[in-house]
Amino acid sequence: ATLKIDASPKLARKIPDTLLGVFFEEMGHGGAGGLWAELVSNRGFEAGGPNTPSNIDPWLIIGDDSSIFVETDRTSCFSKNIVALRMEVLCNDCPAGGVGIYNPGFWGMNIEDGKTYNLVMYVKSPQKANLTVSLTSSDGLQNLASVVILVASKSNWIKVEKKLVAQGTDRTSRLQITSKKKGVVWFDQVSLMPADTYKGHGFRNELVSMLLDLKPRFLRFPGGCFVQGGWLRNAFRWRESIGPWEERPGHFGDCWNYWTDDGLGYYEFLQLSEDLGAAPIWVFNSGLSYNDEVDTAAIAPFVKDVLDSLEFGRGSANSSWGSVRAAMGHPEPFAINYAAIGNEDCGKKYYNGNYLRFYNALREAYPDIQLISNCDGSSGPLDHPADLYDFHVYADAKTLFSMKNTFDNTSRTGPKAFVSEYAVWKTDAGRGTLLASLAEAAFLTGLEKNSDIVEMACHAPLFVNDDIEKKWNPDVIVFNTWQHYGTPSYWMQMLFRESSGAIIHPTTISSSGSGNNSLAASAITWKDSDNSSFLRIKIVNFEPVAVQVTISTTGLQASIDVLRSTATVLTSSNVMDENSFSNPNKVALVKSQLFDTGAHMQVTVAPH
Ligand code: AHR
Repeated sequence: ATLKIDASPKLARKIPDTLLGVFFEEMGHGGAGGLWAELVSNRGFEAGGPNTPSNIDPWLIIGDDSSIFVETDRTSCFSKNIVALRMEVLCNDCPAGGVGIYNPGFWGMNIEDGKTYNLVMYVKSPQKANLTVSLTSSDGLQNLASVVILVASKSNWIKVEKKLVAQGTDRTSRLQITSKKKGVVWFDQVSLMPADTYKGHGFRNELVSMLLDLKPRFLRFPGGCFVQGGWLRNAFRWRESIGPWEERPGHFGDCWNYWTDDGLGYYEFLQLSEDLGAAPIWVFNSGLSYNDEVDTAAIAPFVKDVLDSLEFGRGSANSSWGSVRAAMGHPEPFAINYAAIGNEDCGKKYYNGNYLRFYNALREAYPDIQLISNCDGSSGPLDHPADLYDFHVYADAKTLFSMKNTFDNTSRTGPKAFVSEYAVWKTDAGRGTLLASLAEAAFLTGLEKNSDIVEMACHAPLFVNDDIEKKWNPDVIVFNTWQHYGTPSYWMQMLFRESSGAIIHPTTISSSGSGNNSLAASAITWKDSDNSSFLRIKIVNFEPVAVQVTISTTGLQASIDVLRSTATVLTSSNVMDENSFSNPNKVALVKSQLFDTGAHMQVTVAPH
């Protein structure tokens, strides 16, 4: 086959600075029990709902019916999350280790030797209490750290703050609170955070690193379906997710069927965007869920709610909502320049009506914010104004590979495309196969080429906690309490991390053999921070046979430095290969020196 690259300046075009980013959705415990480093699950005992007694899952009880009685009631000092846990120690002669409660975290807590963990909890006890808070092995037998807390007899709640330093490592530890003294103690908002989180912002370091390595130019958040909710009452509500963490009610995300304490809230998403150097893309609920809708005639308060969210994010520290942000530690506004009006809501009864109400109000208040419609404008004009429109695709590998030309014939006028969810899914996706990543790579080369009208693109979903039973497969990054790995799609995206803001050059592939339709390619040039220029040629070989490719490059403005030329290959012996905790780099990038770098290079592109 022959690949021709015309790198002459007259045909060069700049790719938008924002082309590639990431999409974070609270699904698969990507946030709660994932990126958000909180180790206690259901820290406020709210997950069982407001009716008491309620289920305290995953908290469990240490002791038997004769020694301890535990229930929930509605006596919390926090009015928005009123449920508290009441523990009554019944024994005079308690077991040596005491009786109490423990929290196993999210399938265990990763406690590491020498590291410090910050404990915060709220306690009330009408008589003097003597509590032991410990980090132990999952069976409670090995002690990793403990602290004794003496509670003076008080009728008011007190806040307890302690540091626990681990003496030993256990990947599936638990936090337990025990007592040997008869009497009643109430608990609420029990939090345990590692002292070391990314920039002290509460994010799990190694997971943020994985994101930083992709150089994402935007962060779309917080969903997805998580934004919509199965029912509106369970949709993400930004207002309930800001302010002191103790006062957040938390909510049951009925799209992915789990409770979140909302420690990772709207403010934290904005902070994460800033930490990643990524533009925040706030996807807000458009008054629609999967099962119910707000009539456009009644949408006004929802519009006001979104305007408030933007004032919170980018208003001055003196504005009413901006001052709330400032009080949380961020006096400077966040740079919110994009907002999406709903997620996958196009076609629903009230979408168009609601959309226009949001659009008009936001346009007037924030004329510079790019507004994103859920209606696909790739094959025909939209019937409403928009700056961008969402395009979602989940397909089998062959289909997605062939979709690399999808935007070739899209009108060059009108709103730009935001491919806000793309992935190979189901049949040949496995838990992240090489095959899936090849098709996705081919699709992305098509987006690079069409980046005059495709402004942004991100894969979905991003994270999955491997411990959960029902997973959406595949995901980009898989983790458990202490390990993580990138699926082939992750490593594939690494090959595109210089594309945003780079220069794209026209490429043509021709072949005398049958391989012609199984190749995809693109070529970009960019300058790095020391002002060196680079040319990157990406070739996807979708077939199980090696292909000899002659690459002819014309029009380059400089000669190629052989010593700095490399080939990076993503492949494996079997196209259905996946990565795993035991073999995280089975399908990963392999770099080598590239010796033939002339105007006509000969390369052998391996099967798949
Ligand atoms: O990415 C998973 C889900 O797929 C998203 O929540 C939704 O937008 C889409 O249907």
